[in-house]
Amino acid sequence: MSTSATDDLLRVDHLSVEFRTAAGVGRVVDSLSFSVPRGGALGIVGESGSGKSMTSLGIMGLLPKGGTATGSIVFDGQDLLTIGERAMRRVRGDRIAMIFQDPLSSLNPYYTVGTQIAEAYRSHRSGVSARAARRVVIEAMERVHIHDAGRRVDHYPHQFSGGMRQRIMIAMALSMEPELIIADEPTTALDVTVQAQILDLLAEIRRDTGAGLILITHDLAVVGQVTDRIVVMRRGRMVEQGAVADVFSDPQHEYTRRLLDAVPRIDDEIGELRTTGMSFAGVGEENA
Ligand SMILES: Nc1ncnc2c1ncn2[C@@H]1O[C@H](COP(=O)(O)OP(=O)(O)OP(=O)(O)O)[C@@H](O)[C@H]1O
Ligand SMILES: [Mg+2]
Repeated sequence: MSTSATDDLLRVDHLSVEFRTAAGVGRVVDSLSFSVPRGGALGIVGESGSGKSMTSLGIMGLLPKGGTATGSIVFDGQDLLTIGERAMRRVRGDRIAMIFQDPLSSLNPYYTVGTQIAEAYRSHRSGVSARAARRVVIEAMERVHIHDAGRRVDHYPHQFSGGMRQRIMIAMALSMEPELIIADEPTTALDVTVQAQILDLLAEIRRDTGAGLILITHDLAVVGQVTDRIVVMRRGRMVEQGAVADVFSDPQHEYTRRLLDAVPRIDDEIGELRTTGMSFAGVGEENA
């Protein structure tokens, strides 16, 4: 049950992430605040090293050793920074799912994809039989448009292309019916055509399931296609945030303008992205 007045799905308030090393304390995320409404999609963009991954790992309670998070991360009325590891394990994977850049490193080469998704699913749903889990897995694979899922479920990771493996990871996340999906550079390792297909899939999932989405990328064109709002980060801090259409058409910060300049698109296409951003904002409201 949510107790927040605005009924945000996620509200991050003054989140800082610090690492204590022999050399001293380094702050890699500095007082970052943003929120994701129910069914909303937020893009977090910024150059390499700006703190995007540390932000998402902080939300998931998965910071590398030596890292600590302060501030508050209120998910459905609960502050994830104070609920403790046991409660956090129930949130992670189950209510908040994460999709990473490199699906190969997240998949075990020695087990079929079906076995791996089923295992992840059953670890969160005690008492589910192997047979029932297999049905859930095949359904999830069908939802991410893997054809012939009933046969492909018994294939090994190396038998799939990079794009298909990312679909497998998305299927794994979806099988849990999460309320929030955090995708950290989910298309970076893929070629452009496949990238577009995965982005379409994320947009479709968002529409069909009503799950909230945080999409992390260094590529502004990517967020333009899928999210309603953008947070722009640089060196651990928020540079600006706003609706996709506003940030694209009227960036407030020189750094954002430079990120936009790096997007190889002509004005017409930016206009198109703008329209897409606005139409997704509409869909988000319907789902909320
Ligand atoms: N284990 C660690 N200990 C100390 N500092 C770390 C650790 N891991 C990452 N950092 C630092 O945290 C900062 C933010 O890193 P982060 O991975 O969040 O960047 P990013 O925005 O995700 O970059 P990229 O686009 O390359 O993925 C970087 O300066 C990085 O060097
Ligand atoms: Mg990263």
